[in-house]
Amino acid sequence: MKHVASDDVPSRDREVDPECRETWLTDFFADRALVIAANRGAVTLQQAPGGELLFEYGEGGLVKALLGLCRSADLAWVACALTEADAAWGAGQVEMDDGTSMRLRFVVPPPEAYDGYYNVIANPLLWFLQHTMWNLPVAPVIDRATWDAWEEGYVTVNRLFAEAIAKQIQARSRPTLVMLQDYHLYLTAHFLQEQFPEGERPTTLHFIHIPWPGPEYWRILPPTMRQSVLEGLCRVDLLGLQTREDSLNFLRTCELHLPRAQVNFKRGRVWCDNHATYVQDFPISIDVEALRALAESTQVAEYRQEIHEFVEGRRLILRVDRIEPSKNIVRGFQAFEEMLELYPEHRGEVKFLALMVPSRLGVDEYQDYMEVLMAAAGRVNARFGTSDWEPIRVLVGENYPRAVAALQLYDVLLVNAIADGMNLVAKEGPIVNQRAGALVLSERAGAHQQLEPGVLTISPCDVYATAEALHQALVMPEDERQERAARLRWLIQREDINDWLYRQLKALDALNL
Ligand code: G6P
Repeated sequence: MKHVASDDVPSRDREVDPECRETWLTDFFADRALVIAANRGAVTLQQAPGGELLFEYGEGGLVKALLGLCRSADLAWVACALTEADAAWGAGQVEMDDGTSMRLRFVVPPPEAYDGYYNVIANPLLWFLQHTMWNLPVAPVIDRATWDAWEEGYVTVNRLFAEAIAKQIQARSRPTLVMLQDYHLYLTAHFLQEQFPEGERPTTLHFIHIPWPGPEYWRILPPTMRQSVLEGLCRVDLLGLQTREDSLNFLRTCELHLPRAQVNFKRGRVWCDNHATYVQDFPISIDVEALRALAESTQVAEYRQEIHEFVEGRRLILRVDRIEPSKNIVRGFQAFEEMLELYPEHRGEVKFLALMVPSRLGVDEYQDYMEVLMAAAGRVNARFGTSDWEPIRVLVGENYPRAVAALQLYDVLLVNAIADGMNLVAKEGPIVNQRAGALVLSERAGAHQQLEPGVLTISPCDVYATAEALHQALVMPEDERQERAARLRWLIQREDINDWLYRQLKALDALNL
């Protein structure tokens, strides 16, 4: 690696002054309304025991970034109802305590339709396909039940989304931009366009947050499903993906599996059924300012104390993930085990903390994975643990302030995903870390495209190389750690979440859409 001190880092013409960006956004939305559609709502409702309705923001950086648009745009958010109170709400204007105001409209599918859409198609099938997670001799098994879930679940819910968006557009008598999010809604643009005569169709921008594998992998999906996904996405005006590789893979997939489409690789355009879809990568990021503010809060300081007590002056290897097979948690523990075997000097000197957030428990693979990873950690502890040293500690639960505190204190952050659209932990860590910690990063995480100059790169299945990288990270000289940490901070803060959003809208504008 070529070392670059933070002061030497060149400035980038891409950086945009926040004030100019706000002005530009206000102008952009002066004559158009905005509908965002995503599986999860920006706000979710709960009914308190006294009957009072409680409004809570959905978790995550995406909600915050998109909500920022309330300042500039007349925004409506369409999502699946996740609580009874959501379902009872239907549609209406929401005024949050912080002054944020938006229209919130819930799609309320029958429970079996939702189950097929979320627990059979979107998560096991599409998610596993796009993260290349199948062990093909045994999975996937696409049986009658899967087809039912496709037809009565995924197709139905996508149609309901399209109807809800259309209703929302018709309620406003202005041109509307529709921003669709992610793999739950691949067919929505297709159904949405059916609701409007040609010439009156809303502009649509669809962003896919997860990887897009090459066309060979898409061949595993039955042709009817594959065709519907591609035709749906080719109704979109601008399709955003995380990385250049994802965009190229999308174009190649259309070229191979949608023979009537004309693909122009140079312009990043698919022409199909008299319609152009522009394809471009917009790597998502984090809200650097909000994260820094949280990191300075007293709540995080209290957790920091807790983590200090856990670490007991030793070195800390950290991972923070949803309990998700694509995160490759088990191989991470195996790599730590291998490192302890190869470099006994680390025994008793390093602790591995795994902060694990439960996820998608309605899907069998996720439930099973929890047991598998606990057993893997238990094996390492049984083999190497002593009366005063527990090599691996797994903490399960959703606690973002605690995760931020741990991110401040790691010596090594391990992100070894088998495949990942971006991986925001890899961007959050270097921003808040106080110890010039090293980042061991999988070359199959989207974040690797931007962060490569500052990380220790690993191939996620190579446990031996991961063990070596963990060792290297622990023994790295202080000046190299500092240089890499500075480089990572610079790479991350120059393109934060606001930039992600702004670049998509600028691209639309440049296309006159
Ligand atoms: C991850 C992915 C997103 C996806 C989300 C859904 O965060 O990166 O692309 O939308 O999971 O998670 P959920 O908990 O709603 O199934």
